[in-house]
Amino acid sequence: MYSELVMEHFTNPRNVGVIEDADGVGKIGNPMCGDVMEMFIKVKDDHIEDVKFRTFGCGAAIATSSIATEMIKGKSLDEAVNLSNKAVADALGGLPAQKMHCSNLAADAVRAAVDDYWSKQKNEK
Ligand code: FES
Repeated sequence: MYSELVMEHFTNPRNVGVIEDADGVGKIGNPMCGDVMEMFIKVKDDHIEDVKFRTFGCGAAIATSSIATEMIKGKSLDEAVNLSNKAVADALGGLPAQKMHCSNLAADAVRAAVDDYWSKQKNEK
């Protein structure tokens, strides 16, 4: 049912944890299943210097978040915010149709974290 890459990221997820002094935090709940994802980013020169996540979610949510953190690390904020749900699922070799909604958590949480950073920047000006 799952690709080997999904299983690999599920059993060995990258960038799990919390960044205590994060520059941006995104928290997204999945209304379809009640799972929750939190994404923490550190930003330097408009680029994602570090990223970590934690989730109360299913295997697909863990795998998609893991690969999403790898996809945005070192990237510009504009690139990170444009990470699509489909790109995340594609990078894992696809997800079963009934699990596609799980990939939304990862990309939505990335966008929420960048938005949080941008709104904090605005408020500091
Ligand atoms: Fe909830 Fe996958 S079933 S995120």
